[in-house]
Amino acid sequence: MKFPYSETVMEHFRHPRNVGRIENADGKATEGSPACGDMVSVYINVDESSNKISDVKFESYGCASNIATGSIITEMAKGKTLDDAKKITWRQASDALGGLPPIKAHCSVLAVEGLRSAIQNYEERHGLVKEKKPTTVETIRQRLRRVMDPLTGLGLVRAKLVTDIEVKDGTVRVVVDLPSDHQFASAIKHEVIEKIEPLWDVEEVLVDFTE
Ligand code: FES
Repeated sequence: MKFPYSETVMEHFRHPRNVGRIENADGKATEGSPACGDMVSVYINVDESSNKISDVKFESYGCASNIATGSIITEMAKGKTLDDAKKITWRQASDALGGLPPIKAHCSVLAVEGLRSAIQNYEERHGLVKEKKPTTVETIRQRLRRVMDPLTGLGLVRAKLVTDIEVKDGTVRVVVDLPSDHQFASAIKHEVIEKIEPLWDVEEVLVDFTE
């Protein structure tokens, strides 16, 4: 069978580097793609004295392109400073893989965003965010775009499951239109908190369900 992938993509797909998770990672993020419903998680450890990525791992629930991109960008990121690793683009990843079919661009974007978000998560958790903008309802809405509804594979906002967001004195309250005993309620709650809590001016995150 002929695959639409380069030899390099197939090689990384068959033998992906840096697969797995890092327990108690210094930074981590999960990104989901509304286009296909797949997800990728990226974990990083950072050497504080040099600000370099000392270890990086990923877990993919995506396709061959996603796995190959996760493999190549983790290789590219290891040993780089956070600032340099942030600059890795999906174009560079795709070039390093000998090209990806255009229809698969979102899969490699997803992996690259996973890495960037893991770095952002590290910076937020370590007080390294340079631009300290106050958190607004719009900030929260943007973060929630990245929380997936496992049933539809859409972001929570796009699936119209977020019915209210309040931001007041360091407390963020998010109302999700699901019963609290829904099979995915606790997973969604956990993810919402994980995405919002690292914001520099947020002290408490409350997730309420409508029933
Ligand atoms: Fe979903 Fe590639 S089709 S990650």
